[in-house]
Amino acid sequence: MAVWVLSSLLLVMAAAAATPVVNGDGGGLTVGFYRESCPDAEAIVRKVVADAVRNDPTTNAPLLRLHFHDCFVRGCDGSVLINSTETNTAEKDAKPNHTLDAFDVIDAIKEKLERKCPGVVSCSDILAIAARDAVSLASKAVTGRRWSKASNMYEVETGRRDGRVSSAKEAATNLPDSFDGIRKLTTRFASKGLDLKDLAVLSGAHALGNTHCPSMAKRLRNFTAHHNTDPTLDATYAAKLRRQCRSAGDNTTELEMVPGSSTTFDAAYYRLVAERKGMFHSDEALLRNAVTRGLVYEYMRSEESFLRDFGVSMVNMGRVEVLTGRQGEIRRTCALVN
Ligand code: HEM
Ligand SMILES: *[C@@H]1O[C@H](CO)[C@@H](O)[C@H](O)[C@H]1NC(C)=O
Ligand SMILES: *[C@@H]1O[C@H](CO)[C@@H](O)[C@H](O)[C@H]1NC(C)=O
Ligand SMILES: *[C@@H]1O[C@H](CO)[C@@H](O)[C@H](O)[C@H]1NC(C)=O
Ligand SMILES: *[C@@H]1O[C@H](CO)[C@@H](O)[C@H](O)[C@H]1NC(C)=O
Repeated sequence: MAVWVLSSLLLVMAAAAATPVVNGDGGGLTVGFYRESCPDAEAIVRKVVADAVRNDPTTNAPLLRLHFHDCFVRGCDGSVLINSTETNTAEKDAKPNHTLDAFDVIDAIKEKLERKCPGVVSCSDILAIAARDAVSLASKAVTGRRWSKASNMYEVETGRRDGRVSSAKEAATNLPDSFDGIRKLTTRFASKGLDLKDLAVLSGAHALGNTHCPSMAKRLRNFTAHHNTDPTLDATYAAKLRRQCRSAGDNTTELEMVPGSSTTFDAAYYRLVAERKGMFHSDEALLRNAVTRGLVYEYMRSEESFLRDFGVSMVNMGRVEVLTGRQGEIRRTCALVN
C-alpha cells in the first residue's frame, strides 16, 4: 500500500515537472491544454465514458483500441473517425478495422463538447482522453484509489489538432498484424518512435476485450506441414480455442483475450503470455526478444510496474506525429472533415 501511495506521488511530481512537454514528437502537447479554453473538457469526456462503461463494461476495450489505431496511421489526428466518401475509402473501412467499435461514444462526447465549447476540443484529443479514462475505469487499482487521487492511471497530454485525410490503404500498411513476429513488430513500433519497452507494455492492452476467430484461427488447424497447431501455443489451450472457433472463417464468435476478466485491466495478460496462452502470434512474439521477454516476467510479477509503465508508454504513443498549433483543424463532427 505504502509503495502505491509513494509511486503515485512520484507519478504526480513527474507529470508536473513534465508540463509543458516540448520534446520531439510531443512538442506542443501539454497536460491540461483546455484548462482555460474549455475547463470542463476532461470532466465531460470522463462522464460520458463512465456512463457508457456502466451500461456496458465491454465498451472500455474498443475505446482504448481506437486511440491506438488512430495514432498508428498518420499520427494521433482523429483520422480513424472519418467516414468514407464516394471518392475515398477511409481507415474505418480498411481490413484491420476488424470490428472497431465505440464510435457512438466518441460522437456523444463530441456533441456535448460542441454544445459547451464549440470548435475548441479536437476529436484526436477526445480519443486520447477517452482511452485514458476507459483504461482507468477498468483498473481496480485506479478505481479503488490505490493508485491516484484523481482516479486516473496517468495524466493525458492534449493539444492535438485533427487531420483531414483518412486512408484505408495507409491503415492496411501501418497497423501491426496479429501474425507479425518480433522483428516486424519492432520495426513497426520503431517507425512510430516507439521502442521495445513501449511494445511490451502497450501489448498489455490485450488484458481487455475480445477477438474474432479470423485474427488467430490459423494457429489452430493445419498450421504447417509438420504441425497441425502452432507449436508456440499451449496444446490444451489450443484445443479449447478450437472448440470455440469452429472454422477460420467464423467471424461472429468472440473470444475473450483473457478468459473471465476481459473487462478488467490488470497484468493478467502477461501470465497468459508466459504460459504460452497469448491469443495472437504477436503476443507470443514478446517472448522472442530478451528485452520484451524480461518485461513480460516483470509485469507478471508486479502490476504496479505494469500500470506505471503503461501510463508512460500511452503518453509516448499519444505523441506520435501529432498536429499542433495552426496545423490541421478542430473538426466539428468527428466523422467529417470541416
Ligand atoms: C502489438 C501489436 C498489436 C497487434 C498485432 C494487435 C492486434 C489486435 C487484434 C487482431 C485484435 C482483435 C481484432 C478482432 O479480431 O476483433 C485486437 C484487439 C484489441 N487490441 Fe490490439 N493489437 C496490437 C496492439 C495493441 C495496442 C498497442 C493496443 C492499445 C494500446 C491494443 C488494444 C486492443 C484492444 C483493447 C483490443 C480489444 C478490442 C475489443 O474488444 O473490441 N492493441 N488487437
Ligand atoms: C458515418 O458513417 C456511419 C456508418 O456508416 C453512419 O452511421 C454515420 O451516420 C456517418 N456519420 C456522418 C456524420 O455522416
Ligand atoms: C470495416 O470494414 C468493412 C469493409 O472492409 C466494412 O464493411 C465495415 O463496416 C467496417 N467497420 C467499421 C466499424 O467501420
Ligand atoms: C492443409 O494444408 C495443406 C497444404 O497447404 C492442404 O493441401 C490441405 O488441403 C489442408 N488441409 C485442410 C484440412 O485444410
Ligand atoms: C462473415 O462471414 C460470412 C460467411 O463466411 C460472410 O458472408 C460475411 O461477409 C463475413 N462478414 C464480414 C464482416 O467479414
